[in-house]
Amino acid sequence: MQNLDTILKHALEELGGIDDPVELEQAKARYLGKSGAITELLKGLGKLEPDIRRESGARINKAKEAIESVLNARREAIQAISLEKQLALELLDVTLPGRGQDMGGLHPVTRTLERIQGIFHSLGFSTVSGPEIETDFYNFTALNIPEDHPARAMHDTFYVDEAHLLRTHTSPIQIHYMMAHEPPVKIIAPGRVYRVDSDATHSPMFHQLEILWVDEEVNFTHLKGVAVDFLQRFFEKEHLKVRFRPSFFPFTEPSAEIDMGCIFCEGKGCRVCSHTGWLEVGGCGMVHPNVLKHVGYDAEKYLGFAFGMGLDRLAMLRYGVNDLRLFFSNDLRFLNQFD
Ligand code: FA5
Ligand code: MG
Repeated sequence: MQNLDTILKHALEELGGIDDPVELEQAKARYLGKSGAITELLKGLGKLEPDIRRESGARINKAKEAIESVLNARREAIQAISLEKQLALELLDVTLPGRGQDMGGLHPVTRTLERIQGIFHSLGFSTVSGPEIETDFYNFTALNIPEDHPARAMHDTFYVDEAHLLRTHTSPIQIHYMMAHEPPVKIIAPGRVYRVDSDATHSPMFHQLEILWVDEEVNFTHLKGVAVDFLQRFFEKEHLKVRFRPSFFPFTEPSAEIDMGCIFCEGKGCRVCSHTGWLEVGGCGMVHPNVLKHVGYDAEKYLGFAFGMGLDRLAMLRYGVNDLRLFFSNDLRFLNQFD
């Protein structure tokens, strides 16, 4: 039994110093396993006298219990240590304030379009749309711009293939709509358009807004009234100067360019208006009879006016932006100003 005390002493010392779970189980096997030191002692009990056997048995069992309780204590301690290590690794400070979320805002061109639509809807126009990839027929021929017509050269066109192109203006939407609907027609058609163009006031992709009103008694006075009323309301200036400068478009006759008094210099002349005091905002005119014939309308009975404006130009003028390209560079410092 001298042996038992030594075994117990060793066991308690050894187990107390282990902090690895696998090592702990291996050490346990050395004392309490099938051929562990304590197990061997228990096996030897059978050879002893009954009296001594009882006494020795009790002592060995006590030693076994002592070892088991140290074992359990170590297991718990090891588990606690590994949990702490894991917590330290995955430290998450839930008391930190959140990073916050930025609110998105509408793009200034989108805002401009929404305002413009509001004005035209109040005048009884509805919004329609058309495809960005067009055939030559809709973009040119149906608009009275036959092949070899010099006006085709005015539109520097992106071709997709022999038969298709990126629309160079929103006027082809007029054709789509009139072919599918009987007059009267009172629509606006906004959309992206494309031209091989690039400078401070020209972008290869930009936006236009087409306005079309066809009925039995629509004349140039209606065109002027709608255009002037629209510009005054859009710029919130009752005395905004607007002029109609004779011009040419194959799909309108007569045709005009719509100019408004420069809002930067109040007409005195500045860099933005090339010192003329006037800014061009779009083209317009009475729908050419050939266009009405192309869509199957009775050109003797119906008359119409159309105008097309650069949406991005209107946004530039409204917000005082001096370079069109800022709208498309996606610089948040610029875009944040329109929140
Ligand atoms: C046209 O595109 C005609 N379809 C307008 C029209 C419609 C006339 C209906 C008559 C009846 P124009 O090429 O001038 O016309 O373009 C119209 C407007 O688009 C211009 O006044 C300008 O404001 C804008 N614009 C033209 N090119 C660019 C460009 N590259 N970048 C930004 N805006 C442009
Ligand atoms: Mg023009």
